[in-house]
Amino acid sequence: MVSRTGLNATTKIIALIGDPVAHSLTPVIQNAALEAMKVNVVNVACQVRADGLKDAVAGARVMGFLGLMVTIPHKEAAVRLADRVDPSAQLTGSANLLVFRENDGVCAYSTDGYAALRSLSEIGFDPAGKTITLVGAGGAGRALALHLAQAKAKRLYIANRTQERAQSLTYAINLLFPETEVIALSLSEKNLEIALGFSDLLINATSVGMHPHSEDSPVPSHLLRPPLVIFDIVYNPVWTTLLKEARGRGCRVLDGVPMLVYTNEKALEHCLGVSVPEAIVRLMMETCYRALGEGATGD
Ligand SMILES: NC(=O)c1ccc[n+]([C@@H]2O[C@H](COP(=O)([O-])OP(=O)(O)OC[C@H]3O[C@@H](n4cnc5c(N)ncnc54)[C@H](OP(=O)(O)O)[C@@H]3O)[C@@H](O)[C@H]2O)c1
Repeated sequence: MVSRTGLNATTKIIALIGDPVAHSLTPVIQNAALEAMKVNVVNVACQVRADGLKDAVAGARVMGFLGLMVTIPHKEAAVRLADRVDPSAQLTGSANLLVFRENDGVCAYSTDGYAALRSLSEIGFDPAGKTITLVGAGGAGRALALHLAQAKAKRLYIANRTQERAQSLTYAINLLFPETEVIALSLSEKNLEIALGFSDLLINATSVGMHPHSEDSPVPSHLLRPPLVIFDIVYNPVWTTLLKEARGRGCRVLDGVPMLVYTNEKALEHCLGVSVPEAIVRLMMETCYRALGEGATGD
């Protein structure tokens, strides 16, 4: 928790905007980092309804905020409010970060792909040449699929409850990254069994298994077998049912906390204009696991 006595008339603000935001760990993670970095900046979460997004962005800009982290349901709309769109946000068609710059105006970034790939790289997983099953084609699933294709994944199976969404994502990947073979699937046990039989990595990018429905899993446990690596981007709880079952069956697992932390690290880097030291990233990681009441799952 940031000390309120440290705040003064020159304190700058980074805000998280979304609807809802009350559950978010971003203020906890970022304030721990900002305090340790000894910068006079604070992070706050603001609930913003869809019809208030444009006013919220304009208001934050005129009030001198450094930037806005953007979450559901504003990620697509946020790109349209930007003066400059970073290639990361161009790729995904969505932004989870808007940074206000004097000369460039509102700059949009998408950091989910960077954060997910860095999390995978920390456990030694390089998507290049790999076959990956991605369950979920919502905002995060879309960003991950496009970044995995950009990182030269050999084949992507994209399974989604609403198959049309998986299908439209495959069109985008075929167009942008024709060297990655991509197959859209409906979310059935039979489809998952076939896809996982060929896969090196399974990623859950659905909200299935998230608190308060933490008993649920998007994939039946009997389909989880080594050497399949399992990455669940859900971070609350840290140990989702999917990860617990995968570990029980001898698979390597990766939880969603590192991805969340690297997203926040990137946001601080863009908003403050300095890179975040590794010791601070570690502090953010510890703060996040502590807030969730758990330890890391990675090996
Ligand atoms: N670790 C991180 O840094 C990080 C970052 C971003 C998101 N996340 C987590 O990732 C999850 C997805 O986020 P998002 O932003 O992509 O949300 P989103 O855009 O709302 O997408 C939700 C996804 O979950 C699927 N889904 C929801 N309920 C389902 C159910 N009962 N059965 C099967 N599929 C279901 C949706 O399928 P349909 O298309 O059929 O609706 C869609 O693919 C959330 O839990 C979020 O907290 C984590």
